[in-house]
Amino acid sequence: MLGTSERQALLNAGRESIQAVHKSDYGHDLLLGLSRLPRSVAPKYFYDSTGSALFDRICELPEYYPARTEFNILRSNASQIVEQMGAHVNIIEFGAGSLAKIRVLLDAFSPDMAPDRFIPIDISVQHLEDSAQSLRRAYPCLEVLPIPADYMKSEQLAYVEEMRGRKVGFFPGSSIGNFTPHETVAFLRRAQKMLAGGGLLVGVDLIKDGQILHHAYNDSAGITAAFNLNLLVRANAELGADFDLGRFEHRAFYNEPMQRMEMHLVSLRRQTVRVAGHDFRFDEGETIHTENSYKFTVEGFQDIATAAGFRPGPVWVDDACLFSVHWLESPHNTLVPR
Ligand code: AVI
Repeated sequence: MLGTSERQALLNAGRESIQAVHKSDYGHDLLLGLSRLPRSVAPKYFYDSTGSALFDRICELPEYYPARTEFNILRSNASQIVEQMGAHVNIIEFGAGSLAKIRVLLDAFSPDMAPDRFIPIDISVQHLEDSAQSLRRAYPCLEVLPIPADYMKSEQLAYVEEMRGRKVGFFPGSSIGNFTPHETVAFLRRAQKMLAGGGLLVGVDLIKDGQILHHAYNDSAGITAAFNLNLLVRANAELGADFDLGRFEHRAFYNEPMQRMEMHLVSLRRQTVRVAGHDFRFDEGETIHTENSYKFTVEGFQDIATAAGFRPGPVWVDDACLFSVHWLESPHNTLVPR
């Protein structure tokens, strides 16, 4: 177990590097994304503290079925799920957010099987620390070791890779759907290696009626719109950009051939925006592509996981077939090329 000073040093180093790196990454990536056509920016930049708080509100919206449905799947099947996870494990949550879902699982372990350690990894530093603090208060026997990091950057996860004991990953919320197909395979391969001898519990949103999807990303309260537009708020505050928020609009639609929801920011008129000393001209109707949210079939996702070296186990799905939660065994030896 890590001592208090070691743990604090890890947290401080992580916090400083992620804050500095992430701010400059956003500037760099935004300039690059605005310079190419079609314009785009990676969805990971949604999650500053305002964006993370807006995302928590999205999860409570009546239209946004994924959070609620996954929560109910976890609650209804918690004892089977923790049985798959095993006793005295180290749980690593990727992109931890508010840490509401892990509580459902923690509550399902019998005291003699309880996990040894919980390691949430998230890019949103303050949000992560606040959530970790409240988790510590609720589960005083559990060692909670938050890592402020981008879980797609393997060098920031060396500590977890080297950690001993049975490791199980938890990746809820269908955040895996926000990766490109290439990133999905890269993430799963890395996770398989990191969790060898354990497994991964992952939430995956399912292909469904386009109207349900449309409403989930176009809520009537406008919270998803604010979440999307927050990328421009961030650019103005952090990079000295001059986006006029009244001249851009949220747009989200289901791209059926690609099996994904897309979010864009649409320029409402012809305009020039200045970002970090560079001018970018937008035509009316031109967009910045801000997010893809891929949807899967159960079998399609299992095929991807198998190709990454996992062995698919039980899958739990709600009665309306909106969402799935997969248990993936991570064998020690796999034939997948690295
Ligand atoms: C975090 N992620 C899985 C959400 C999604 O549904 O793709 C982000 C989100 N975007 C709009 N609403 C929620």
